Amino acid sequence: MSRVLLENIVKVYQGGFEAVKDACLDIADREFVVIVGPSGCGKTTTLRMIAGLEEITSGQISIGDRIVNDIAPKNRDIAMVFQNYALYPHMTVFDNMAFGLKLRKNSKAEVASRVKDAAEILGIEKLLKRKPKALSGGQRQRVALGRAIVRKPKAFLYDEPLSNLDAKLRVTMRTELKSLHQRLETTSIYVTHDQAEAMTLGDRICVMHEGIIQQVDQPMEVYNRPVNRFVAGFLGTPHMNFVEGKIETVGNSVFFNFSAGKIELPARMNECLNAKNGRDVVFGFRAENVSIASKDDKKSSINAKVEVVEPLGDRLNVYFNIKCMTSEKWLVANLDPHVRLTPGQTLRFKLNMDKTHVFDKGDTGKNLTLQERAEM
Ligand SMILES: Nc1ncnc2c1ncn2[C@@H]1O[C@H](COP(=O)(O)OP(=O)(O)OP(=O)(O)O)[C@@H](O)[C@H]1O
Ligand SMILES: [Mg+2]
Repeated sequence: MSRVLLENIVKVYQGGFEAVKDACLDIADREFVVIVGPSGCGKTTTLRMIAGLEEITSGQISIGDRIVNDIAPKNRDIAMVFQNYALYPHMTVFDNMAFGLKLRKNSKAEVASRVKDAAEILGIEKLLKRKPKALSGGQRQRVALGRAIVRKPKAFLYDEPLSNLDAKLRVTMRTELKSLHQRLETTSIYVTHDQAEAMTLGDRICVMHEGIIQQVDQPMEVYNRPVNRFVAGFLGTPHMNFVEGKIETVGNSVFFNFSAGKIELPARMNECLNAKNGRDVVFGFRAENVSIASKDDKKSSINAKVEVVEPLGDRLNVYFNIKCMTSEKWLVANLDPHVRLTPGQTLRFKLNMDKTHVFDKGDTGKNLTLQERAEM
């Protein structure tokens, strides 16, 4: 069993900067968890504490059934894959992959067999005699993975392993990594600031911001039910649209009232919002939940001017401007590519209200409209 458990982990660097604040994370045996967040949020620090490369200020880390706080990195039985591969340039691919095993005094035959198996899994059997400089970026990354696989560790720790690759290769390697995990089923913790990588790779994703874990859940759950405005805005391309306004309750109905109009909120939000008349809030909706309203469809729609049309091939991003009293506010819709729109044109955009959110306007930006998850 290789569960990895972080309990109340704190990291304060010399000088007093608190990079990780009371992090709790329970990673199950065989699970693939992705830690995602913007630059500087504490991802690498967290990973390095798990690896033992960084001292923990307070809290406890367990790998398998051992508390590892005081165990040296080399005895933690984990393998780390870095962004810059860290291959030895003067060694062949074989020797790079064998290096860690030889250090651990495995027999020659055992080393050869493990390297061969890993090379086969990664499709690099023919490269074993080459030196790293004679490899492409993708091949180097495979060697770096190979070096981790041969050790058969309790857990893999990945720190942005694909970020040195070009966009196309990143996507290919991402799929390979997922397939690799499905075969090896080794507990994996993967750090990235790329939300697409997080969504596609993780059994669960852990969103971090300013040293604090914001939400840990399955990717679609985090995408559809973000706990706060930060998480909502971080996941998804284009970013979620946010509009500031106020809650207005009229009888049994609840409205979002903003400078360009008033939208009736769906009944599912009544319970959460009907005591919040007059509260400053931020209304959020994703670009894919916007469509063009039919002529007599005034409900749940916003009157707006088309500003920029961006064809993506399979979809169309349309930036539209809602009339606000003093300032302009650009929002974005992701539409079927066959609609014909011209910049300057005015029309009504309809929102799929089932997928909208209302966030607190204050610092926390808490999602005010999350109800308990329905029993599966
Ligand atoms: N040795 C150090 N001493 C002091 N502060 C540090 C040290 N290492 C990192 N930090 C700070 O801790 C914070 C978290 O750093 P960390 O490297 O964990 O971020 P990250 O989430 O991995 O970011 P990135 O996506 O840019 O790699 C940053 O503000 C960073 O400046
Ligand atoms: Mg980092």
